[in-house]
Amino acid sequence: MQKNNRKYLIAGNWKMNKTAAEARELIKEINAVVGQKTDVAVAVCPPFTALESAAELLKDTNIQLGAQNMYPKAEGAYTGEISAVMLRELYCSFVILGHSERREYFGESDAFINEKVIAALESNLKPILCVGETLSQRESGEMLSVIETQMKGGLKGVGEDNGENIVIAYEPVWAIGTGKTATPEMAQEVHAFIRKLLVEQFGETGTKVRILYGGSMKPENASELLDQSDIDGGLIGGAALKAKSFAELVTIAQSKS
Ligand code: 13P
Repeated sequence: MQKNNRKYLIAGNWKMNKTAAEARELIKEINAVVGQKTDVAVAVCPPFTALESAAELLKDTNIQLGAQNMYPKAEGAYTGEISAVMLRELYCSFVILGHSERREYFGESDAFINEKVIAALESNLKPILCVGETLSQRESGEMLSVIETQMKGGLKGVGEDNGENIVIAYEPVWAIGTGKTATPEMAQEVHAFIRKLLVEQFGETGTKVRILYGGSMKPENASELLDQSDIDGGLIGGAALKAKSFAELVTIAQSKS
């Protein structure tokens, strides 16, 4: 069941997979099955190098495009970086920010992620802000305080007027790419906590923000996760790289819409 008018969002994070040519093939396959569905919001986030061809293929479909990262400055001497304006030019609607892989491998701090969130919103890009604890943080009882720090740090200075332009993805680090999924109850506990933080920051608007679950989500476990009252979709890694499993996830969400 869709909750509080929050349309399910199924978003594929392709990470560093697929050349532009491979991306075209995958997008054509996904498009053929789910390109015209409207009950569920669908997005794909290919690597930067595939965005332009993806945008071309996704024109006139209901599948939206997202990027996996950006730099907070508008332009300048930042070798290797990509700005929000550049992503908007390629018809991106979303940008994934603060993914745990960027936090871990590229040392991204909450303050830096916050700069990106603000810059994305200023360019009308919707941030998908990722938060999540490691296994040792969960086991030592720090889980909720880690989530609170990442939420408050990442969303600092974001006002109620922008609340609905934010998407949160709860991705327990220990569940990413490991085949271990949080049980629906474990995920819901954190999603409910994130909802409380959103309501504290955005008031009523906080009840309208979508909170996605990410971490080994696949057709076999999606239904129970999506049944939880504060799980509004998924940020899908591995299962987004095959049209069949990704389309199945969209179909499962649609069956509950
Ligand atoms: P997996 O679905 O491969 O576990 O990846 C989840 C993820 O990190 C999505 O951003």
